[in-house]
Formats: sequence, C-alpha cells, structure tokens
Amino acid sequence: MAIISSSLDESNIPRSRKELRIVDSKIIAEEKLNKNLNLARPNSFKEFIGQEQIKSSLKIAIDASKYRKEVLEHTLLYGQPGLGKTTLALLISHEMNTKCRVASAPSIERPRDIVGLLLGLKEGEILFIDEIHRLNKLTEELLYSAMEDFRLDLTMGANRGARCRTINLPKFTLIGATTKLASISSPLKDRFGLCQKIEFYSNHELQQIILNFSNLINLQLKNDACCALAKISRGTPRIALRLLKRVRDYAQVIKKTNKISLEIVEKALSAQKIDSKGWIT
Ligand SMILES: Nc1ncnc2c1ncn2[C@@H]1O[C@H](COP(=O)(O)OP(=O)(O)O)[C@@H](O)[C@H]1O
Ligand SMILES: [Mg+2]
Repeated sequence: MAIISSSLDESNIPRSRKELRIVDSKIIAEEKLNKNLNLARPNSFKEFIGQEQIKSSLKIAIDASKYRKEVLEHTLLYGQPGLGKTTLALLISHEMNTKCRVASAPSIERPRDIVGLLLGLKEGEILFIDEIHRLNKLTEELLYSAMEDFRLDLTMGANRGARCRTINLPKFTLIGATTKLASISSPLKDRFGLCQKIEFYSNHELQQIILNFSNLINLQLKNDACCALAKISRGTPRIALRLLKRVRDYAQVIKKTNKISLEIVEKALSAQKIDSKGWIT
C-alpha cells in the first residue's frame, strides 16, 4: 500500500469528474496535447508502415479483448526515440474506439498527479505514460494495484491520524513507452501483459513513410530524392520527416517550387549543413 503523506488529505481527492477538471489542470493540458499529437500521424494500422510483427500481435490482442468485451492488457512499447511509440499508442486507442489520455512521466511529480489521472479515467479508456522509466517510486507503487486490481490503495494523513482508503477504479489500459527498458523496475515491467520492441526501419519502409507524408503536405517528390532522404534518416521516421520538412522549406522559399528533385535535396541539405548521416554539422 502506498503512503501518500499528509500533503494529500482526503478532502484533496477529487471525487467527481467536474471537480477533477477544476482541481487538476494538468489533465486539461494533456487533452490539448492529445489533439496536437494527432496531426500528421497515421490514422490506422494500415497507414503505419512496417513493424509487421508488432502490428499483428497488437491486432490479435485488440480483437481478442474486443471479442471478450474486456479492456486491452497493459502494454509496454520500447525503442529508440522517433520510431513510433506514441503513434502506436494513439492507434491502439483508435482501434479500441476509446479515448487516450496522454501524460509524460516527468510531469507526474506528486502522488496526487497520478491519483488525479487515474480518477479521471472512464471505463475502457487508455492512459498513455511516455518516458515511463522516469516515474518516481511513490507514483510507481500507486500504479501496482491500479494496474493489477484496478484499485488505488491510499494512506492519508500522518502518524496516528493516518487512515487507509481504497478507491475502486474503472477498468483501463495503461500503455507505457520508454527508450530505456533496462531502467524500468521488474515489478512494474511484470504488470504489463504485452511488451513490444519497436525496431529501426528499413530504407524501403522509410521511403514509403516519406512518400506518404509528402503527399499529405502536397509535395511532389521524385523517386531518387525520396531514396536520398531515406538513406540519411538513420532508420528513424521522425528524422526522415524532419529532413523532408527542411527540404520543403528550401524548395518553397529558394526555388519557389513544390517539386522536389534529387538536386534540390542535395542543395537543401548542404545549405543547412546536414551531413550524410542526417546530423547538423
Ligand atoms: N511506422 C510509421 N509509419 C508512419 N509514420 C510513422 C511511423 N512511425 C513513426 N512515424 C512518424 O514519425 C514521427 C515520430 O513518431 P512518434 O510516435 O512520435 O515516435 P516516438 O514516440 O517513438 O518518439 C511521427 O510524426 C509519426 O507520425
Ligand atoms: Mg513519443
């Protein structure tokens, strides 16, 4: 049972959703973030290029949980930055037809932050915690019973005035994302039913991602230009998309065109001092 100190006395626990909104402005901020995060991200597993094994495992788990009318098992996604962890979490919530509340572990500082987030969830919703390896111990301990039994075990007050209180939570799915699997404690790791490693992308997959995104932003990208961008993206979609945006800026401002040739890519990259590994020199 987690002891959450006198700083969170019983009167501090938000009871209704309305009260929660007033008390915890962080949740409102997270909902706004949620909307921004959806911009230019794949909207379905079909649009999410590559990672076939992960997509097929997730689809089976999603269909099975829908079939049993249960919540999806808690899911841990790990891999290098920019490979699609956040995107996958949002896609899972889309496939499950449920809302995804997004939070980042460093912003969950006090026990009442995680309590507020958990109490704000509705049945079947997803709580996505990014950088989950950065949760503090107290928050992590509160998550154990929340994940396992959908219950919050709190001790309020201090010393002889301390009282225990158990709050039942709606059934929810926690999706955690991390770049540092080794930094997650075993008790937390063990509570995730699904654990998926996101791998780097092949050149071919990156080309497809670049092409889809260029269509979305109305760029006509020549084949060799697309290959050149994929080659220097270090297997990472975020880098590929960032480089494409830099090339777009150059093409539109200097060349006044939306047609991207290999020559424009090379000139844009050298003008912005980006080397053959996609680094700024
Ligand atoms: N498999 C993919 N297919 C298409 N776009 C992708 C894919 N993976 C990542 N992206 C894009 O790359 C960017 C970074 O992805 P993100 O999910 O934020 O990575 P992470 O959370 O792992 O750091 C986003 O714009 C996302 O849309
Ligand atoms: Mg992310």
